[in-house]
Parts: sequence; C-alpha cells; structure tokens
Amino acid sequence: MTLLQTGFPFQAPVVPGQLSPPNDNAIPAATCAHGVAGRELLAWRRRQLAGHRREPVVLQPSLDWLLDLGGGISWQQLQLLHLRPQQAVLLRRSLDELEMLWWRHLNEQIPLQHLLGLCPWRDLTLQVGPGALIPRAETEVLVELALALSPTPPALWAELGTGSGAVALALARAWPGSRGLAVELSSAARAVAACNLEGHVAAGQVQLLAGSWWQPLVPWWGQLALVVSNPPYIPTAVWAALEPGVREHEPVLALDGGGDGLAAIRAIAAGAAAALVPGGLLLLEHHHDQSAAVHDLLAAAGLVQLDRHRDLEGVWRFASARAPQTLS
Ligand SMILES: C[S@@+](CC[C@H](N)C(=O)[O-])C[C@H]1O[C@@H](n2cnc3c(N)ncnc32)[C@H](O)[C@@H]1O
Repeated sequence: MTLLQTGFPFQAPVVPGQLSPPNDNAIPAATCAHGVAGRELLAWRRRQLAGHRREPVVLQPSLDWLLDLGGGISWQQLQLLHLRPQQAVLLRRSLDELEMLWWRHLNEQIPLQHLLGLCPWRDLTLQVGPGALIPRAETEVLVELALALSPTPPALWAELGTGSGAVALALARAWPGSRGLAVELSSAARAVAACNLEGHVAAGQVQLLAGSWWQPLVPWWGQLALVVSNPPYIPTAVWAALEPGVREHEPVLALDGGGDGLAAIRAIAAGAAAALVPGGLLLLEHHHDQSAAVHDLLAAAGLVQLDRHRDLEGVWRFASARAPQTLS
C-alpha cells in the first residue's frame, strides 16, 4: 500500500495564534498525522453523508470542506482516492475527531468555521470565533471595489465595523505604504481582529479603535481618503427568521440593522461628508434590496458621484459615493 501524502504540512493560518481569540468551540488539531486507508476514508465519508435527514448532495460540500480544512485532504485528493482506494492518506485529525466535529455541526448547528477556528477568505486563512462575524464571500468583492476605485493607495483609510479584521487586513496587505484605522464596538470582535492583524501587517499600520462608527475617528476628521464598511444591515424581522447556525452562533450586533435594516447605514452616511477628505470615497455593503434606500441616504447626506455595484450573484450589493470638493 503506497502512502498518499495529503496537504501536509497543513497550511497554517496566516495569523499564528499568539493572541488566541475567544473561541470555546474550536478544537485544535492534533500535531501528529493519522494514517488511514483510502477505502476506509471513502466508506467513512459515505456513512457521514447517509446518516442524516438532509440529502447527501446538500451535505457534501460542507463535509468535503471539513475534510479539507480540518483533515488536510483536498477535494482533488479525495477524487483521486476514488481511482486509487488502495492508497493510504495522512489526515490532520483522526476520523473519530472529524466525526465528532461533523456531529456537532449537524446537531448543534455550530458553524464548521467556529469548530475549526478558521476560515479561508480571499488569499487568507483567518482566525474566527463566535465574537466576530464569519467573513462572507460577498465581502471579498468589497475589497476588490475598494482597490478598483482607489487607483492610488489612500494615505489614510478606515474600516467601520471591522469584525474579524478581514477587510482591514486585506486592504493593509494590498497597500503596504498606507495607514488604516479599524473601528469596532465589540470587544470580542476586536480580540479576533487583533489576532488576525498581528504579525501580518507592519506594526502600527492598522490601528484598532474601540467605539461606535465615527466617534473614535474624530481626531482624523476630514482626513480620511477612503472609508469602507460592511455594517449590520439585516432587518430585525429577517434576522429573527435566519437559520439557527447564523442566528444562534453569530453575533447579533454584526447582523441586526434595526427595523428597516438601515440604522447603521443611516449613521454612517450622516458622518461621511465631514469625515472624508474632499473627494474622499465611501464604500458600503448592504442588503440585497436596499440599493435605492442607501442611494437616497447617501444623497441626503450631501455625498456626490453616487454609484452602485453588483456582487458575484449580480445583486446590487454595494454603494459608493464621494465627499464633495467643498462642504456646503
Ligand atoms: C456585518 S459585520 C462586518 C464584519 C467584518 N467587517 C466583515 O465584513 O466580515 C458588522 C460589524 O460592525 C460591528 N458594529 C456594530 N455596531 C457597531 C457600531 N455602532 N460601531 C462600530 N462597529 C459596530 C459589529 O460588531 C460587526 O463586527
């Protein structure tokens, strides 16, 4: 029996966990490798997919994600095993450990990202925990838009509601000569963001600030060339009907945008013209059906050059606007 070397050594999170974010659910991987016959792994996978009331085809992407991120065997390696089941693989965790994680995910609705304590996002592997929103795929586009709409790196930029620090980290890495200010109200989220920023951006390049929206930025009033935000924008009634995995395991502060979902966007729009340099850019993510309402809020706040942008599904998910050249 030959030994198929899987993704070892497993690619470590970009952020070493010197400052561990609070995440009681995360189960650290054992340091030793677990050899298992390919045939055995494939049979185990079939059992996990069959043993639940949901359709295997629905469960399969999540189980393969767990095998990849938690077990260290990629989807491609898994496919090869179907052709060569006589080969053995080395897993980062034993099948018993992986089964326990899978069981908790299915029965306690705990996101796999929380159970593993990490989340791939853009070219990063971020640390995540219940204190901060798991960064979503659509927010990767927010970073792309910021880069595309800022032909030269802004000298000073800010992110409002940084959560895990994903967006701030991506911008700081794209613009190593720039300086960023990352605002966050939740101390639990700030702990996660500190972990993710630590060691991966130059010391002092991104400053984490505690407080609500514009308030911690008052010392830099009128100096910000770019402000990005993915604020809480889900209307409360919609939040209340979200699937339990999100509603019970992700922070309500990160999701609930009040009755119409626009409470945070209203506050952010109101301060933007004064906080930005003349001509400075505000870039927002919002709910799938808020494009017109956000446009009206930005216009009412005196911003100009209003524009809207689609997400990867073609939905108008982002708004951009600039501070006028002269404040009226
Ligand atoms: C939708 S999450 C976005 C997190 C992260 N930027 C991302 O895109 O994954 C919104 C973030 O705003 C933070 N937040 C909520 N209210 C806030 C406030 N008044 N001031 C600052 N941050 C706030 C939440 O704690 C949460 O981290």
